[in-house]
Amino acid sequence: MTTRVTTGGQVLPITRWGTPVMHGRTRPVTEFDETLQSLVDDMFATMYAAEGVGLAATQVGVDLAVFVFDCPDDDQVRHSGVVCNPVVELPEGKERHLETIDEGCLSLPGAYIELARPDFAVCRGQDALGEPVEVQGTGLLARCLQHETDHLNGTVFGDRLSGRARKKLYALHQDLADCYPDDWPVSPRSAELDDED
Ligand code: NI
Repeated sequence: MTTRVTTGGQVLPITRWGTPVMHGRTRPVTEFDETLQSLVDDMFATMYAAEGVGLAATQVGVDLAVFVFDCPDDDQVRHSGVVCNPVVELPEGKERHLETIDEGCLSLPGAYIELARPDFAVCRGQDALGEPVEVQGTGLLARCLQHETDHLNGTVFGDRLSGRARKKLYALHQDLADCYPDDWPVSPRSAELDDED
């Protein structure tokens, strides 16, 4: 990938589920300019501060179709980059294998629950300079590409759960909610929780 991955961005508060920007379709990226690069820098800084593997623009309150990722694949090889205007292609028929593992979201911090998703995904879009980009993902990266593209279509992974599973997920989050300040990860998680990790 030719994507320029820079550091030095500003850590921003992560938007939570229930905030309108998280539940609507985003605007396509049409200007691949300094403003976009600055947003991408801030998104990387925020993702790393939160120790996440992916972050969508809606998670920093911006309704623009771009996500960043830094995520291991099935061989534990890390892949990082930017995808603007992502479209995910999933295997069909015999090629389609579902994997059920715990999934979480930085916008509902602390809670994880099992969700079945295809174990392979191809994500196509543009990088931060507007050049075509294609990311092929296995393992956690396959899940990440699907999860982040969902975000930009206004879908959170809770929308893909049964009512019962969603209720359990919210209960898990509620148990830990006090440990995440409103502006997390600008302010860190509370220390008591870290001791329990
Ligand atoms: Ni998420």
